Amino acid sequence: MQTVLVTGGAGFIGANFILLARKLAWANVINLDKLTYASNLENLAELQGEKNYHFVQGDIGNFELVSYLLEQYQPEAIINFAAESHVDRSILNPENFIQTNVVGTFQLLEASRLYWQKLSPSRQQQFRFLHVSTDEVYGSLKSQDAAFREDTPYAPNSPYAASKAASDHFVRAYHHTYGLPTLTTNCSNNYGPRQFPEKLIPLTILNAMDGKPLPIYGDGQNIRDWLYVIDHCEAIQLVLQQGKIGETYNIGGLNEQTNLIVVEKICAILDELVPKSDYSHSSLITFVKDRPGHDRRYAIDCSKISQDLGWQPQENFDSGLLKTVQWYLDNPEWVNQVRSGAYKNWLKQNYDHKKLE
Ligand code: NAD
Ligand code: DAU
Repeated sequence: MQTVLVTGGAGFIGANFILLARKLAWANVINLDKLTYASNLENLAELQGEKNYHFVQGDIGNFELVSYLLEQYQPEAIINFAAESHVDRSILNPENFIQTNVVGTFQLLEASRLYWQKLSPSRQQQFRFLHVSTDEVYGSLKSQDAAFREDTPYAPNSPYAASKAASDHFVRAYHHTYGLPTLTTNCSNNYGPRQFPEKLIPLTILNAMDGKPLPIYGDGQNIRDWLYVIDHCEAIQLVLQQGKIGETYNIGGLNEQTNLIVVEKICAILDELVPKSDYSHSSLITFVKDRPGHDRRYAIDCSKISQDLGWQPQENFDSGLLKTVQWYLDNPEWVNQVRSGAYKNWLKQNYDHKKLE
């Protein structure tokens, strides 16, 4: 069985990826995570004590630590999920995004290169560095524009997107210059269990469960292409095993929705599962000031991964959303734990100044 170093594995997508990898028993996993506000070790509680899973608290930007872990565990692959991932936070405080997404990815690449260069030729051939990126690097689409392809020029609009674009360029350069066997995936908005409730879908679910306003930025007509997190994790595993070295792969849900429709669908599910006698959840919808520089539309053309590797998203949006809402209802301990000081402070910081007069 191969050993993989997963970074950012205590976050939303990384944790779902590790749980899937261990369920399918295809890899021993070393999880390196700094444990920022977005992480949650509860996500991985079921793996505690497993001999094929090791957690290490640390920063991808810590070159000595990463080099030590590579020497110690001799992984066949690195999968880099670690990032500052929330656009609104990047608008309020961009510096952390440069540190982790740009400098951190650079240090991780540099430690990986030095490790890889010392491997035997056959192990060098086997090794992969898979970098998980985003469709936001391509910028914003107009309603009639074709979906993002792998050759769409980069045009990042937020500090978050710019930091991810920079990291993608470093990954590309490490392949081109040093021959490091890299793979990059650019995916659309993920949803599913275990997502920190600063992002639209879990924020809406938690606020609606509490009878609080459901904030919609601007006119609610911005479009995102929603991808169920398990579909995404399966695609990453496939790219890791069969992707062509040095290539990038777009991963999307083939599922474009306006934000208003997404929030209305969540409200309809909650009306069914936890009906209120005196109001419908949709009455909580509240339009608030728009996000500065808000990208209008994202859409992914995933024909390359579909044709080359045979991947297609499997989850249907209505059933995926139902599973997601049900997960938050079924896990009150997880929900109560994340409703910590840090989360409350974020709601105040981001939403107080967005109220419309
Ligand atoms: P997340 O914010 O839920 O989790 C990020 C994890 O990275 C956290 O556990 C955090 O502690 C860890 N981390 C942050 N800085 C670190 C550092 N310096 N060193 C080590 N660990 C660190 O993010 P997510 O939603 O799971 O996203 C994972 C990756 O996928 C990110 O690279 C993100 O840019 C990308 N992505 C996410 C989405 C999405 O919809 N969530 C879509 C496209 C791409
Ligand atoms: O497209 C991929 C990206 O998707 C990832 O790279 C990012 O890591 C991830 O955070 C996500 O970015 P978005 O900005 O699209 O996700 P978010 O959930 O923050 O917002 C989704 C849409 O909903 C966006 O148009 C803004 C809007 N929104 C968001 C929040 C938090 C609201 O209307 N109200 C809100 O309170």
